[in-house]
Amino acid sequence: MLSFSPTRNGTPPRSPIAAALAACRGGFLAVALFSGVLTVLVLTGSLFMLQIYDRVLPSRSVPTLVALVVLVAALYSFQGVLDAIRGRMLVRVGAALDKEAGGHTYEAVVQLPLRTRSDSDGLQPVRDLDQLRSFLSSTGPTALFDLPWIPLYLGLCFIFHVWIGVTALVGASLLVALTLLTEALTRAPARTAVGFGASRLALAGASRRNAEVLQAMGMAGRLAARWTEVNGRYVGAHQQASDVAVGLGAATRALRMMLQSAVLAVGAYLVIHQEATAGIIIASSILMTRALAPVELAVANWKSFIAARESRRRLSDLLTAFGHQEAAMPLPPPNESFSVETISVVPPGLHKPVVADVTFQLRSGQGLGIIGPSASGKSSLARALVGIWRPARGKIRLDGAALEQWVPEELGRHIGYLPQDVELFDGTVAENIARFEPEPDSQAIIAAARAAGVHELILRLPDGYGSKIGESGMALSAGQRQRIALARALYGDPFLVVLDEPNANLDAEGEEALTQAILAVRQHGGIVIVVAHRRGALVGVDQVLAMANGQACAFGPKQEVLRKVLQPARPNLRPIVAAGAERTAS
Ligand SMILES: Nc1ncnc2c1ncn2[C@@H]1O[C@H](COP(=O)(O)OP(=O)(O)OP(=O)(O)O)[C@@H](O)[C@H]1O
Ligand SMILES: [Mg+2]
Repeated sequence: MLSFSPTRNGTPPRSPIAAALAACRGGFLAVALFSGVLTVLVLTGSLFMLQIYDRVLPSRSVPTLVALVVLVAALYSFQGVLDAIRGRMLVRVGAALDKEAGGHTYEAVVQLPLRTRSDSDGLQPVRDLDQLRSFLSSTGPTALFDLPWIPLYLGLCFIFHVWIGVTALVGASLLVALTLLTEALTRAPARTAVGFGASRLALAGASRRNAEVLQAMGMAGRLAARWTEVNGRYVGAHQQASDVAVGLGAATRALRMMLQSAVLAVGAYLVIHQEATAGIIIASSILMTRALAPVELAVANWKSFIAARESRRRLSDLLTAFGHQEAAMPLPPPNESFSVETISVVPPGLHKPVVADVTFQLRSGQGLGIIGPSASGKSSLARALVGIWRPARGKIRLDGAALEQWVPEELGRHIGYLPQDVELFDGTVAENIARFEPEPDSQAIIAAARAAGVHELILRLPDGYGSKIGESGMALSAGQRQRIALARALYGDPFLVVLDEPNANLDAEGEEALTQAILAVRQHGGIVIVVAHRRGALVGVDQVLAMANGQACAFGPKQEVLRKVLQPARPNLRPIVAAGAERTAS
C-alpha cells in the first residue's frame, strides 16, 4: 500500500474528490428527484391490475378498460423518458467528476514517485478515478437512490393488509441482512485483490521494459513463474470475494422467489377468510416485487459499490495528502547565485539520508564538477539541486530565494537538468527539446541543439527535427538520446544547468561538444553543475565537489580539490579522479 507524508499546509485541506462530488450535488439531487418520480410511476402496473380485477371485470365495462389502457400507456411512456434522462444525467455526473478531479489525479500520479515508494505500477489513482466514474455512470447509484423508497412500498403493503405488510417487511429485512453480510465478508478479500492486482501490473510493466535482458539471459521462464505466482494470488483473492458474493447472490435470488410465493400464499389465506379480494393478492405480489427490487439491485451492484468506495477513499487520501501548492509570488529571473546550505537528502520511502550536510555556493559564470565513487550520493544530490527531491534538512537557494518559494513552472524555465538515465517522451525531436512548450521558439530549439552539438546529428534523422521518437516513434541510440536530452536541458538558456553524467555515452566529438556547451552556459552568466565519473566532463568546470559516503569531503577550485583528493589518505576517491586530474591539470 502507499504511504506518504501529509501536506505541509496548516489547515486540513478538502480533497478534490470531495469538492468534485460536492460540485455534482445538483446533478445528484436531480437524479434523486427523478428516482422519486419514477418510484411512484413504477406503481402503474400494480394499480392497473388492481383496477382490472376489481373494477373492469366486475362491471364488464369496455370504455373503462380503454380509458385505463390509454392512461397506463401514457404513464409507461413518461416513465421510459424519465428513466432515459436519469441515465444520461448519471453519465454526465461521472464525466463532471472526471473533469474536476482528472487533472489533480494526473498531478498526483506524477508526484507519487517523487514522494513515496510504492509496490505498484503507480497508476492506481488513474484506475481509481475510472472505477469511481464508471460506478457513478452505472445503475449503481440509482439503486442507492431507490433504497429510501422501500418504506413507501412496504407501507402500501401494510395498507392492503397487515399480514401482507409483515411478509414484505420480513423479506426486505432478510435481504438487507444478506447485503450487509456480503459487505462484511467481501471487504477484506476485495482490498487484498486490489493490492495483488497492482503488484501484478508492476511486474508485467517491468518485464516489458526489460524484455531484452529477459531474452538475452534466458530469464523469461523464471519471471514467468513469478508472474504466475503473483497472478495466482490475485485471482485467488478475487475468487474469494466473488465466491462470497456469488453465494449470497444466489441466496438472495432464492429468497426472492420464496417471498413471491409466500405473499401469494398469505393473500390466498386472506381471500379464503374473506379478508381481501383476489385483485389485492396479485397487486400486492407485484408491489412487493417492486419493494424488493431496489434491495436486489443494491445487492447486484454491491461489488462495484464497494470497489468505488475503496477507490474514492484511496483517491481522497492521496489527493488530500498531496494538497495543492500554495500560489507562490513570481520572482525576477535569477542571475547571481546558487547556494546550498547544509542540505540532507532522503530518497522517497527511505528514512536514512543518502546525502548529509552538503554546503556550497556558486556564483554566476561558475562551473562545478561533482565527483565521487558509485553510490556516494552524486545523483541524489543532483536531484535535490533541481528540486526533484525536497531536502529533508537545509535550504537550496537561487538568488537568495529557496526553491519552494518559486512558482514550479516558472522555476523549471530557469533550470536545465539531464538525468543519468535519459528517457525521452513520445513526440518529435523538436517537441522534446522544447520541453513540450505549446508554442516553441524554433530559433531557441536550434540554438539549444547547436549548443549541445547535436544539430547535424538531428538533420541526419529521417525527418530532421520533426522525426518522431519515443515509444511509438523511432528508437535512438544511447548517445543520440543523451545529446538530445542535453539540448533539452540547454533549451531557453536556463540559469542553472545540472548534468548527471552527461558524457556516459559520448564519443570524443560528443565530449568536445559537451565541454563547449558547459563553457557557453558559463559565458552567458549561467551556472553549470556536472556530475562526472569520466574525466572528459570536468574540462569545462572551475570548481569541484568531492563526495564520499553521502558527504562532501572537499569543495573548492578544481586543481586544489583534485590535488587534495588524489592524496593517498583518500584512496576511495583516487581511481575516480586520478585520470581527470591528469588531463585537467595539463
Ligand atoms: N530512487 C531512489 N530511492 C531510494 N534510494 C535511492 C534512490 N536513488 C538512489 N538511492 C540510494 O542513494 C544512494 C546514493 O545513490 P546515488 O544514485 O545518488 O549515487 P551516485 O553517486 O549517483 O552513484 P553512481 O555514480 O553509480 O551514479 C545509494 O545508496 C542508493 O541506494
Ligand atoms: Mg549517479
